[in-house]
Parts: sequence; structure tokens; C-alpha cells
Amino acid sequence: MARVGGFPRSRPRRLRLFKAVRDLVAETRLDPGNFILPIFVNDNVDKPVETKALEGHYYYPPQSPELVDLISRSMDLGVRAFLVFGIPSTKDYHGGEAWSRDGVVQRALRFIRGEVGSKPILFTDLCLCGYTDHGHCGLPVNSRRGMVIDNDSTLDIYAKIAVSQAEAGADFVAPSGMMDGQVKVIREALDNAGFTDVGIMSYSAKYASVFYGPFRGVMDSAPRFGDRRSYQMDPRNAWEALREVLFDVEEGADIVMVKPALAYLDVIRLVKENVPHVPLAAYNVSGEYMMIRKAAELGVVNGEVAVLEVLTAIARAGADMIITYHALEAAEIIRSGKIPF
Ligand code: PBG
Repeated sequence: MARVGGFPRSRPRRLRLFKAVRDLVAETRLDPGNFILPIFVNDNVDKPVETKALEGHYYYPPQSPELVDLISRSMDLGVRAFLVFGIPSTKDYHGGEAWSRDGVVQRALRFIRGEVGSKPILFTDLCLCGYTDHGHCGLPVNSRRGMVIDNDSTLDIYAKIAVSQAEAGADFVAPSGMMDGQVKVIREALDNAGFTDVGIMSYSAKYASVFYGPFRGVMDSAPRFGDRRSYQMDPRNAWEALREVLFDVEEGADIVMVKPALAYLDVIRLVKENVPHVPLAAYNVSGEYMMIRKAAELGVVNGEVAVLEVLTAIARAGADMIITYHALEAAEIIRSGKIPF
């Protein structure tokens, strides 16, 4: 029975009455083509081994058929972009394995290219923390403030890593160390080496976050002394993210990133609204992934619905692409048509 007087005049519920209408007016849609799947190649394993800290994710030997299988399976689901992380067999002060021609990531890339060609988009994480015996993303030196991470000598090393990853077949290098000027130095190094079409996805606004915990377990990359607060951003700052993003764009970044994603949706929105013309990635990080997995395991939430809701929120906030450990399960749900909205 309608109320008299034509009230309510506006009835937003008309657009929610049944699924086809809801789909018709949906503002945000997830597409596996916008997901980037992190993968871990590890020189200390001779067969795929499940990681402890990131359940459901495996270490792969760099030249294994299973690694190629993973990539082919993902491509079949529509996930065509991968972010490759390496765990070397030896670590040292300078992280020499990160730019060795025969480093774990370099061998993995050559192998993948040899097996599946140019079809997958290969991003390489460009950092030192997984390769150094001190676990920092840059080089520690003694200063009047005690041990500090030296910015400029680290840049020289990043340039070498970039060129060696490009030589091995990377489409995009992804500097994640939060050193000032890293994008400019890497762009120049790539251009000088002839890799003008290798791009840069910069971890522009990367916060010093507790949600990286599981990842550091997987990479064995926790800092052996101190913490990363002198180079990663302070969680209390949002406007500063714009500054970091604008520097990176000016220095030549092709894609910028906000990381983590879930606790920083406001930052994603701020960057998208103010720098709308640059593709924006958001990194749905390891701790965020495990929180949902554990909550689902405990029966607190339905895991499938939670994954889709969270990824939708990140896209709705303004991310053009999402780096996520949920990529394959989300792609499967999307493909099967069981989207829970
Ligand atoms: C390293 C790096 C980190 C992540 C990606 N590259 C974190 C860190 O230890 O600072 C985090 C990814 C994740 O938690 O999923 N510079």
C-alpha cells in the first residue's frame, strides 16, 4: 500500500529490486585483467613448497615446470600480470644477488620467457631487503645518528638491479625501497642501456605498515636492526602521499602505487582525484590477505564474499589495478558468475 501524499518521492530501492537492475547501475566492476598476482621464486627449494606465512602461496624453483603451470593457469583465468619476488640462496651487505645476471629472479624471467613468450606482463619487485644480510631496503652506514640507511649510494645499486631485470625480460620494474630519487635514477639507467620500453611501476606511497608481517616471513626480509620508519611513510599522513606521487610522476613513473590498500582507501581516493591521468595500483598486502583468510577459517565471515567485497572497495576507492594474493580465487569467482552482489 502506497502512503498518501506521494511520499517517499525518491525511492532508490527501485534500482536494487533484482540482480539485473543492480548490475545495470553498478559503478564498479572487477575484472581479472586488472589483477596482478605476486609470485615467489626461491633458490632454496627444488620443488614447489607452500609458504608458512602466506597460506595458499608457494615458493617455486626459478626454472620449474610448476612455475610455468601457475602462469598458464592464471592466464586462463584472465590474470595476465605477475609481480615476481626472489629469495636468493645467499645474502650479503650489498644484496649482490639482486643484480647478478644469474640471480634467482633473472633466471626465472628468462625461463618464463623461454616457455611462454611475451604474453604475460612481468613486473619485478626492485628492492634490497630480501637480498641483504641486514634486511634493509637500502645500505646501512654509520652516521652521527648511529646506523642510517644511505639514500644516494643505494640509488646506484637500484640502477644496476633495474638494468639486470630488464635484460632478463621484465616489462616493468617496481622499485619498492622508498629511496628519494629512485624513479629518476632507474629511468635514466634503463634508457641508457637501451630499455626505453621497459616501464616503471613505483611504490610511490608505501607506508611503514604492520600488515607486511607475513610477507617478511616469506621473504626472510625483516630488518635485522631498527625498522623502516626512516624511509617508508608515516601512517598518520595522507597529503604527503600526493607529494610522493607527484615526484614519481615527474621523475618518469608509468604507474604509481599506494600500499597497503585496505587501511589506506582514503589515500587511494586522494591520489586518484588529484592525479587522475596516471594509472594507479593498490597493493592489497600480505597481512590484509591473511586477516580475511583467518576470519573465514574461523567462520567469522564468508571468505568468498569478503574477498570480492574488499577488492571491490579498493577498486571503488580509485585503484585502476590491484596487486593481490587473492587474484586467482577472485578470478575464479568472477568467472563462474558467482559474484555475491
Ligand atoms: C619490500 C617489500 C615489502 C612488500 C613488498 N615489497 C614490504 C616491506 O618489508 O617493507 C610488502 C608486501 C606484502 O606485505 O604483501 N620493500
